[in-house]
Amino acid sequence: QTGMITLDPGYVNTGSCESNITFIDGEKGILRYRGYPIEDVCDKTDFIETAYLVIYGRLPDQNEYDKFRDDIAEHSLPHKGLAKMFEAFPKDAHPMALLASVLPSMYAYYPYDENDPEQVDKAILRLLGKVPVLASWVYRKLRGWPLNYSNPDLSYAANFLNLTFSTPSNRFKLDPDIVKALDLLLILHADHEQNCSAASVRMVGSSQVNLYAAIAAGMCSLWGPLHGGANQKVLEMLDMIQRDGGDIDKYLELAKDKESGFRLMGFGHRVYKNFDPRAHIIKKHADRVLSKLGINDPLLNLAKKLEEAALNDPYFAERKLYPNVDFYSGIIYKAMGIPTEMFTVMFAIGRLPGWIAQWREMQRDPSLRIGRPRQVYQGETERELSSRVKNH
Ligand code: SDX
Repeated sequence: QTGMITLDPGYVNTGSCESNITFIDGEKGILRYRGYPIEDVCDKTDFIETAYLVIYGRLPDQNEYDKFRDDIAEHSLPHKGLAKMFEAFPKDAHPMALLASVLPSMYAYYPYDENDPEQVDKAILRLLGKVPVLASWVYRKLRGWPLNYSNPDLSYAANFLNLTFSTPSNRFKLDPDIVKALDLLLILHADHEQNCSAASVRMVGSSQVNLYAAIAAGMCSLWGPLHGGANQKVLEMLDMIQRDGGDIDKYLELAKDKESGFRLMGFGHRVYKNFDPRAHIIKKHADRVLSKLGINDPLLNLAKKLEEAALNDPYFAERKLYPNVDFYSGIIYKAMGIPTEMFTVMFAIGRLPGWIAQWREMQRDPSLRIGRPRQVYQGETERELSSRVKNH
């Protein structure tokens, strides 16, 4: 198709990318990380195990798990220069503007020899350790709060919640249901084969730039409202419909009118043409988490009604538009107290192992060549300039 980039292992015009990491069957709604069904990965692992699985191709044994967890914790202290970078940003800056800016700068503080596997592994640990801390600093900087530092005694999800919400005068209550729900959301976002941001990491990484810069490319791609930015747009859309009297039919009609520019955010997917298994899992947990917390969020009921109405509407059914991973995730993030402007940051924390895995798989592919998509030229044929008098 004109203008479309076709990716492939060496980006040499075969049209797809070969990978061993994640399998998706869009018709059957199947998602597997390294062969394990997403449902089992959610039930039987935590996010650290999932990250290890996605990056290194197998589940860690207990010793490997303990070492991986401890190494991540050991590398979770960002250089104070990275905190200083946030000083210059305005208070109302979008969190992704801060997080995406600081990522490539990590190479200034933590340069490494990409030919030394041990140093590459350390760069991976530094990303997994520091990104949640930097994400919490983004939240706290924008509120003028003092910065927190990692607590190695807490799980990855609990540590992020504590980093983000605990203040000297108010320790955040680490409700086990909230911690488990966040761990589940991170697992569900861990990888998703060649989505826009993973493809961006591969394309930028194919020039042999360092890992931090390649991950920053993924961050910037994820930021877009059609990709990771959708979870924030879903909550804003539900809130708008709610404030407009909950008139679902009006917004379904609006979504059918291309001129309106309005889309049902959190609906549709390039690959899933049946259902997104992640949306199923998140929807089930949204009920559980909210009832456990005694929260009755009208937006959850509105989301369910919107899903129901859209699934029964021929326009959406014909186009196989179903809720995707972003449709319900924001309702759980909101129940945790995470503000909508931080939702894409949450997606980025979850997707980090996937980006790393995609980058690492590509870097270790001996057939790797720099990404160089071709085009179908549609411009002018050769034109004359010789008769023109140069007038400046
Ligand atoms: C993510 O790739 C991944 O795996 C991404 C992701 C991951 O884990 O990495 O799953 C995460 O990005 C999920 C998607 C989040 N984005 C949104 O929820 C934004 C709303 N969705 C759409 O913009 C859209 O569905 C996309 C971007 C998700 C998919 O775009 P496509 O595959 O290019 O689909 P399309 O735009 O070609 O749409 C096909 C038809 C069109 O109508 P026709 O021209 O055939 O008449 O469906 C319509 C579109 O107008 N359509 C929608 C719609 N999505 C598609 N109409 C109304 N509302 C929508 N949400």
